[in-house]
Amino acid sequence: MKGELEKLEQEAMAALRGVRDAQELRRIRAQYVGRKGAVTRLLRKISTLPAAERPQAGKLANDVKIRLETVFKSALKRIEQERERPQAGLDVTLPGRPFERGTFHPITLTLEAISDIFLRLGFAIAEGPDVELDYYNFEALNIPRHHPARDMHDTFYISDNVVLRTHTSPIQIRVMEKQSPPVRIIAPGKVYRVDYDISHTPMFHQVEGLMVDRQISFGDLKGILTTLMHQLFDEKTRLRFRPSFFPFTEPSAEVDIECVMCRGKGCRVCAHTGWLEIVGAGMVHPAVFEMVGYDTDRYTGFAFGLGIERIAMLKYGIDDIRRFYENDIRFLRQF
Ligand code: PHE
Repeated sequence: MKGELEKLEQEAMAALRGVRDAQELRRIRAQYVGRKGAVTRLLRKISTLPAAERPQAGKLANDVKIRLETVFKSALKRIEQERERPQAGLDVTLPGRPFERGTFHPITLTLEAISDIFLRLGFAIAEGPDVELDYYNFEALNIPRHHPARDMHDTFYISDNVVLRTHTSPIQIRVMEKQSPPVRIIAPGKVYRVDYDISHTPMFHQVEGLMVDRQISFGDLKGILTTLMHQLFDEKTRLRFRPSFFPFTEPSAEVDIECVMCRGKGCRVCAHTGWLEIVGAGMVHPAVFEMVGYDTDRYTGFAFGLGIERIAMLKYGIDDIRRFYENDIRFLRQF
């Protein structure tokens, strides 16, 4: 009897191992532990055994029955869980697939830092087209045709009258044509010049600034640019205003900041001068006001143009302007 029971248990276990659906499982169960199952039949035969053997045989048969029932139950559970899965072969415990996260371009970050500062100072943000009329890029800015100042701009011409803007200054004109004073705007954007070397790319960025009202003075220009640089770098950063020339401002200045790399001691970045030139600026030329119909007796104003790549290079310690536009992920990911 003991041998028979052991054989039956082994058979039943082997049959269960291959079971795939509940119906088959129930059939196997009936075959062994159902009312007419093999194990049940053996249990019934116990009464025919000699009295001395009955207790031991009964216990053995019952144990087998209990073990089989337990295995049946867990097999049924397994089958039901498999059926509830949304997709065969989907392992929800696998770790997810990693995906790349983007970062902002250092020029975008710099433009935003500058815009934030000016927004807090009460400036609005203006825009203009990259493909610009000769009139806005040059003529309205007091640079007539054949004026030698045009040679400073290595212009991409689309046609005789249409250029890729060489600076953001045309936006000054577009704003003043639409709006009467007071004006307080900045205009960030891309500009284009035929140029390519360690410190020039054919496309780069500027932020134009324009403030027009009664009694605007050079002192206001100085104050605004000083505030900007102190907030962008730190309060110790010194500024230097040198006389310069632009046809659309008078007087004009180049504004340098003390080299933020060497603190004015002189290094490779500032070509050992201790200063970095990053802004062109001045008081708006009366000829420009006349072009847009502003009353030159009532109003004065200042304008400036910031080179953004220069500022971003200083802010992030980048030594070659071309890095910005090579689309090297290893470089861009650092910001
Ligand atoms: N537009 C000039 C440039 O690109 C900079 C400038 C802007 C100078 C405004 C004076 C006033 O160099």
